[in-house]
Amino acid sequence: MFLVILLVAPLMVIAQGIKKDALPLRERLSINTGWKFMRYTEGADKLIYDIRPEVTDRNDNKVADSKPTEAVIIKASEQVLKNWILPVANDFIKDPLKHYKRPEGNPGNDFAFVQNNFNDAAWEKVNLPHDWAIKGPFYKEANATVGGGMGRLPVQGVGWYRKKINITAADAGKNIYLDIDGAMSYAMVWLNGNLVGGWPYGYNSFRLNLTPYLKSGDDNQLAIRVDNPNYSARWYPGGGIYRNVWLTKVNAVHIAHWGTFVTAKNVSAAAATVDIAVEIENKLTTDKNIEVITEIYFLQNNLQSRKNKIVSFPKMVAVVQPGKKIKLGNSVSIKNPLLWGPPPSQKPNLYVAVTKLFANGKQIDEYETRFGIRSLQFDPIKGLLVNDKPVRFQGVNQHHDLGALGAAFNTRAAERQLEILAELGCNAIRMSHNPPASELLDLTDRMGFLVMDEIFDSWERKKTPHDFHLIFPDWYEADTRSFIRRDRNHPSVIAWSFGNEVGEQYTADTGAIIAKRLHDIVKEEDNTRPATASMNYAKPHMPFPKESDIISLNYQGEGIRDAPAYAHLRGIRTTPLYPAFQKQFPDKLIVSSETASAFSTRGTYIFPVTNGIGAPVSDSTGGDPINKYVSAYELYTAPFGASADKVFASQDKHPFVAGEFVWSGWDYLGEPTPYYSARSSYCGIIDLAGFKKDRFYLYQSRWKPGLPMVHILPHWNWPDRIGKVTPVHVFTSGDEAELFLNGRSLGKKKKGIYEYRLRWDDVKYEPGEVKVIAYKNGNQWAEEIIKTTSGAGQLLISADRNVITADGTDLSFITVKIADKNGSMVPDANNKVIFSIEGPGEIVATDNGDPANLVSFASKEREAYFGLVLVIVRSQKGKPGGIKIKATSTGQKAATVEIKSK
Ligand code: GAL
Repeated sequence: MFLVILLVAPLMVIAQGIKKDALPLRERLSINTGWKFMRYTEGADKLIYDIRPEVTDRNDNKVADSKPTEAVIIKASEQVLKNWILPVANDFIKDPLKHYKRPEGNPGNDFAFVQNNFNDAAWEKVNLPHDWAIKGPFYKEANATVGGGMGRLPVQGVGWYRKKINITAADAGKNIYLDIDGAMSYAMVWLNGNLVGGWPYGYNSFRLNLTPYLKSGDDNQLAIRVDNPNYSARWYPGGGIYRNVWLTKVNAVHIAHWGTFVTAKNVSAAAATVDIAVEIENKLTTDKNIEVITEIYFLQNNLQSRKNKIVSFPKMVAVVQPGKKIKLGNSVSIKNPLLWGPPPSQKPNLYVAVTKLFANGKQIDEYETRFGIRSLQFDPIKGLLVNDKPVRFQGVNQHHDLGALGAAFNTRAAERQLEILAELGCNAIRMSHNPPASELLDLTDRMGFLVMDEIFDSWERKKTPHDFHLIFPDWYEADTRSFIRRDRNHPSVIAWSFGNEVGEQYTADTGAIIAKRLHDIVKEEDNTRPATASMNYAKPHMPFPKESDIISLNYQGEGIRDAPAYAHLRGIRTTPLYPAFQKQFPDKLIVSSETASAFSTRGTYIFPVTNGIGAPVSDSTGGDPINKYVSAYELYTAPFGASADKVFASQDKHPFVAGEFVWSGWDYLGEPTPYYSARSSYCGIIDLAGFKKDRFYLYQSRWKPGLPMVHILPHWNWPDRIGKVTPVHVFTSGDEAELFLNGRSLGKKKKGIYEYRLRWDDVKYEPGEVKVIAYKNGNQWAEEIIKTTSGAGQLLISADRNVITADGTDLSFITVKIADKNGSMVPDANNKVIFSIEGPGEIVATDNGDPANLVSFASKEREAYFGLVLVIVRSQKGKPGGIKIKATSTGQKAATVEIKSK
């Protein structure tokens, strides 16, 4: 596979003969700060990537499992820029005959915004990552420009970013690249008036070579145009350059972009073989003799410090032709490797491979690759084995937004999402339905989550008029290959998904051919992990599922619309299909890549409560259309969905199933089913602000069976329900519990087979105290008491972190609780809270987890939603000091919290 050249000179000797260059070998400079930005409020310039079909169907309030439809064919009659952009894909198109050739000319060069001397003083100053839409205002009207599906925020339209970059004389002879981790979408980049290139798919990271257009020893003008179509997604995409942007400076002969691939085989506690493939690029006009040495170090937890040098790969030597790339491969054995595996039973140990490139005895490049050593087995009966140990997928789906912070990537916000998921007992994330920020994968590596990394929600057939299907034919190969090359060294990534519920499930062989093509591309790039596509429609006998290495089912495993409560609904209907898939594919692991799609709003209980284990939500069952609540009894679902209780039973009845990914871990922006006039989803286990819904404890009771816990719902403040039936449900990791109302036992209940909650459905409300004592194997296990509170009287404030870094990006998430005089949260309080701040920090956003709240996230005032409000505070760069955040509310005792920025 790789050209393997070994030269067995002892490493010490080589190292002695080498002089390190004084200049940096490789620089990766953040260029996130100091950008100027404008977005057209109406119309836009004509520098379009391609024309798009007119939107005739503006309904984005469709059931998520609606059948995708055929693309609309249009012909470009205008001058479009796509032919200048497509050559950027060439690095990721295998067949050289299919490479694009850049046409003559330089479109846009006479346009004002790309000129070095254009005066952008009136433009807004922004730092990246930047999401132009998140501050709103929300579109509130019925026929909104951007509807509920995409979050009612102004994501649509064209925006420009400009920044001058200084290239010093010392950079002469260097190759300088622009690395954009994500721009939403159709990014096109000009440098000093020259169109450099771009990348349409907003979720992929890409690199452009600035070198030919640079003036060294001078300021260089970057101008980036981003064009974000409306009707392009089924969720909130965000708008603008919403991930990090870097300048990478390397010598003309260097390790190529995403140029290493480290894998481990024959992994055991005693030893492992680590393989490395290194790609070297020569941008000179002459041959270059090179030597490559890679050393492996163990990484300590903070990932910064290389601990001990473990081993070196044998040196590799080669000649790289001018203008060419070469791939070298090599292996080394590591004794007693510290393996990467998911907690709690394993540890996510990480290594770093430091690859050094030499020419004429001089080091010319150095490149780090973090990796983990682990073995994966996808067993059709035992499920996933990591390092020979079975690990059930206790997973969730996550969209890319960070709630009130929008799509603009922030490492701390992402880390907080993962921390709360870890507390839940979640061990796996499906990146639905697009590549995440790579820093998120650094976090999953470090924290030990298993990742199903996914790239597409649509192929040729469309779900929305302007989704990825418009560019699929031109870009699918480049997007797929670049996605894998970027992410392949992350040990947390355990499977690739090349599609979610795509329309090609419905088109028999035609669809399966595309599935096979994508599958094969994935395997050409990485044959160490399975490639799959999630299916909510394709059945075992159809051609589509054959093209997946593992079977990823959305909802079909436990059955869709198949219970009596769902009998009146139209749409896909299946009996539980786990057995049929197993029969057809006895050699393939089966996992549910989406389960549940159960809905709720935190703290809202609606009566009467269904006596079944689940029902589709409607205005009269579990839903409150006036307040846009869905009952927090956690029994109500999407029409095609199932309650957690039903999913658990189905998983337990089919123990060969490797586990599940719940739809969804956190609420996300957009897709606010069932209330389209809202702004964010209802399906999270955790709400948009990061507060736990009751469902959190249901999953925790299953996913952390060893954690003594018990949770009661609903709250006990029901002045209007005295004497009325108010069911009490209990989630516990125990197997039995006794419930007490004002000291009287309401009986002990035991979980039966395939039962996951204990319910006292005929409790009549009276104010006072509800107490539960849970038992496990006959022994007392956990206890909880809830009480009717008195009225709201004080604010209680607490920060998730009291010390943050003064780097201009670190965040503290601060919760305010509306409490009674005893300090208990008043569960129905909606008092308005006003925030103020002193010191070197900034209030970036507030939220309360209410999906229907259309107050801008940037507002410093917000009503509590069922007792809670969140405020997010960011540090200021280079300004350490104490930050005081004060919360006030009429009639309440105010509260202040102090955090330190260091
Ligand atoms: C699924 C879909 C997800 C989401 C979910 C909502 O069918 O794959 O992206 O739309 O439904 O419940």
